[in-house]
Amino acid sequence: MTGLFITLEGLDGAGKSTHLAWLQCRFEGLGRRVVMTREPGGTPLGERLRAIVLNEAMHPDTEALVMFAARREHVETVIRPALMRGDVVISDRFSDASFAYQGGGRGIASLRLEILEDWVQEGLQPDLTLLFDLPEATAQARMQGRGETDRFEREQIDFHRRVRAAYLARAARFPQRIRVLDGSLGVEAVAAQVARLVEGL
Ligand code: TYD
Repeated sequence: MTGLFITLEGLDGAGKSTHLAWLQCRFEGLGRRVVMTREPGGTPLGERLRAIVLNEAMHPDTEALVMFAARREHVETVIRPALMRGDVVISDRFSDASFAYQGGGRGIASLRLEILEDWVQEGLQPDLTLLFDLPEATAQARMQGRGETDRFEREQIDFHRRVRAAYLARAARFPQRIRVLDGSLGVEAVAAQVARLVEGL
């Protein structure tokens, strides 16, 4: 595979969406074809699963399985074909979110999630993951006043604290792939960090 796979992660309200368009422009400016996508979702079936998993109450195991079911479709029909073509794939969230939200947030054992990860990804991992880190209280404050919230955004602060901790634990485990940015800074400062981290690619 000759493409490049980049994922963005972080708490709801971490501000990652702001930097997606910049990344797209940066790689297109270098003459690369860029596929912008997201999880859960990224395929017609995945988007239907997204609507369900973000809005309907379900058992935590079901939630994890739906996330990985949508991911399987995404990897098979969008991500791998794009990487085979040599495209740059930029995904708003990928499996680190499952380890953070379903693992840290809901308390599912990492070992179980790793089984699903092996099954669904067959070794595929992002080349670079940007983790927009910030205190959960700051992220919560940024979410205030946003219109409709989903099931995850409505969780208590303690849930988001565990999600953040699980993200950071994952970054400590895969320091080469997952680069942590200080998402509490202003947009300009965060953009500068993003630019510096992708320069190496
Ligand atoms: P998000 O990507 O933040 O979309 P929006 O910006 O439209 O709110 O929302 C997706 C939610 O799904 C987010 O709260 C995290 C959650 N999620 C998981 O719990 N597990 C996963 O594996 C993924 C990909 C997302």
